[in-house]
Amino acid sequence: MKIRKCVIPAAGLGTRLLPASKAVPKEMLPVVDTPVLELIVKEAVDSGIEEILIITGRDKSAIENHFDNNIELEDHLLKKNDHINLDKIDKIVNMARIFYTRQNKPLGLGHAILCAKEFIGNEPFAILLGDDIMRAKKPVTKQLIDCFNTYNAPVLGVQEVDESDINKYGIIDYEKIEEDTFFVNDMIEKPKLENAPSNKAILGRYVLTPEIFDILENQKPGVGGEIQLTDAIRNLLDIQKVYAYQFEGKRYDTGSKIGYLKAIVEFALVREDLSEEFEQYLKALLK
Ligand code: G1P
Repeated sequence: MKIRKCVIPAAGLGTRLLPASKAVPKEMLPVVDTPVLELIVKEAVDSGIEEILIITGRDKSAIENHFDNNIELEDHLLKKNDHINLDKIDKIVNMARIFYTRQNKPLGLGHAILCAKEFIGNEPFAILLGDDIMRAKKPVTKQLIDCFNTYNAPVLGVQEVDESDINKYGIIDYEKIEEDTFFVNDMIEKPKLENAPSNKAILGRYVLTPEIFDILENQKPGVGGEIQLTDAIRNLLDIQKVYAYQFEGKRYDTGSKIGYLKAIVEFALVREDLSEEFEQYLKALLK
């Protein structure tokens, strides 16, 4: 079955990036000149997704404005014959069919995904977390969709992380079945190092089936008192096989200061219009 829909949860408060995220949603912070969320929407579109539900919250109207027309700005650019910028804006507005809903209580990632139940209906779908951006040869969501099409079962995007970072992620217990594909035996959200079954972490990309919603409806709060998506997928293991795919590409956690900085530097270094000058600048700076 074709994966047509995805959910992008973007309701988090972004406390790790305060004060920048006080009035500007953290998902709208720029990576060079493109908001984090636009990069994520682009990954979804490049993966064949047609309809996107963004889960927002209070004070996130900048998100809706970004993907909508701005008549005043467009008139201004038209008068100045600035077709380069007009094209940029036109592309953003026509990228995909984007829908919005609000998570009106901060009850956790699992609860945010549950807000997509009606939108998703009865078909498999992708999840792209609103903080995690990727640089990959083939869009990471597309890599997961291809794996889903092989096994016809939910797929989690994973990579190995440093031991010191294990307590930040959902960690899987697995059996290897192919070069980059694993059968998931168990999973645990944000374990202590001594309780972690491996160093393979779920990194912000999932393809799931609608069975997850019934589980989420009854999911009790877990780590941090929040309804955890990882706990719900763990319960899914009782009724379905679940796979993990170790994707090709580099992932940046733009919700953290260091992840955001790394993203800006690395995205700038691959930009045709900036890389040369920026690289020289960095080299001189580090001498
Ligand atoms: C969430 C998930 C976690 C996953 C992580 C990836 O945690 O709960 O399983 O590994 O995203 O970024 P959060 O970063 O929202 O605390």
